[in-house]
Amino acid sequence: MTDNLHQLRCFGCGARIAGADALPDFRCAACGDLFEVEYPGWSQRRGPDRPNSGALKWLWRERKSSSEALDQSGVWRFRELLPILDSFGNAVTLREGNTPLYHLHRASKALGIDQLFAKHQGMNPSGSFKDTGMTSAMSVARERGFEWVACASTGNTSAAMAAYAARAGLRSLVLIPDGKIAWGKLSQAMDYGAVTCQLKADFDGCLTLLTQIVKEAPIYLLNSVNPYRLEGQKTPAFEIAEAFDWDVPDHLIVPGGNLGNSSALGKGFREMRELGLVARMPRISVIQAAGANPLVRSFAASHGAELEPVEAHTRATAIRIGNPASWRKAARVIQDTGGWCLDVTEAEIAISKAELGAEGLGCEPASAVTLAGLKKLRAEGKIRSNETVVLVLTGHTLKDADYTIDFHRGTLLTEEESAGKEAEINALRRNAVVVDASAAAVLSAMRSSAG
Ligand code: F0G
Repeated sequence: MTDNLHQLRCFGCGARIAGADALPDFRCAACGDLFEVEYPGWSQRRGPDRPNSGALKWLWRERKSSSEALDQSGVWRFRELLPILDSFGNAVTLREGNTPLYHLHRASKALGIDQLFAKHQGMNPSGSFKDTGMTSAMSVARERGFEWVACASTGNTSAAMAAYAARAGLRSLVLIPDGKIAWGKLSQAMDYGAVTCQLKADFDGCLTLLTQIVKEAPIYLLNSVNPYRLEGQKTPAFEIAEAFDWDVPDHLIVPGGNLGNSSALGKGFREMRELGLVARMPRISVIQAAGANPLVRSFAASHGAELEPVEAHTRATAIRIGNPASWRKAARVIQDTGGWCLDVTEAEIAISKAELGAEGLGCEPASAVTLAGLKKLRAEGKIRSNETVVLVLTGHTLKDADYTIDFHRGTLLTEEESAGKEAEINALRRNAVVVDASAAAVLSAMRSSAG
């Protein structure tokens, strides 16, 4: 008896292969495109492998009160929808997922959208959404007997990979762009025991080099080109649908970097609809930083048919990516769901991040593009006040404390970047003040901050 029901289908030419036959770089031998996991048994309406939607909803809710490790994971709780392992007993879990969905009180008032929520994926064990994809792909690596796993990363993937590799007893190799990742993330890779190489290259260069390396040595590639990553990363879609009692929000807004996450969430909602768990899909919109916006340009030039890589620059280092691997998948998600793809400036990101912070929901800069993007979509009349919106916050605020401190000290943005937005920025800044160690001085500091 195997728990495994999957095969791989090429996103470009439709070729189908067995999971174990994938090449080390996860590219199609025929056309070079990426693969997607598919479950052939699901399409036979009355077949024994097609999940029963009513039974699953009940089972998944029951598992919430279970003390089994797999049931306590917000990814493996939904394991019937990711049967990628020969045995679920091989799963490597840190109890990822089950992240909170917060109502955004202030932003909802400011934007006139009553039903505005944030799904905070930064509340995962290593502090980012990557854990949901790492638990699934690392489990495959362990089941297939690899000793080494590797990724190129802007920081979060490496933190998650190093943690899960350590739990699985595997060695891990991390390639990161020198000087362009947040310290919090680098410290995690070190602490979890990865071999960490800082390269004089950007993220795209790191991934290209790693693609060569995995062809030369038996190392399992754990970037989101690995289709098993996306299987775990689709599960927040299930959590969101469950939280809305198996309805879905009208809009889901996601940051875009290498574009694995938007692809995965789209797949999750699509599969739920195909299996009759939900009746429709949300519009899924992808937001990029203006200095790292290849998908936005692609939509402007060819409605997502062609993509020209760009040289990427943004302080939201997590999404500093100019040649996103999963762009075709993400473009399809936006087109199929009727979402949008747009970009936001450095000042807009910084302001939105501080606004989320002021709600008690810190996040990292890359996550704040979602609120900045929502403001634009709302101003353009694309989102109505009676619609339900979920922003996906991808990383924890402590990942990049330097960014936050620089913002509050007023040293983050250049004059040019903040031009016209000085008042908005200054109203949000809460710099620490140095005062005498006396009650009078502290009370005076409180008074001068009032309002
Ligand atoms: N937000 C955060 C906090 C991220 O770390 C990333 C990607 C994204 C958004 C974008 O997601 O790539 O799936 O479109 N970080 C990767 C990394 C690239 O290496 O940690 P994406």
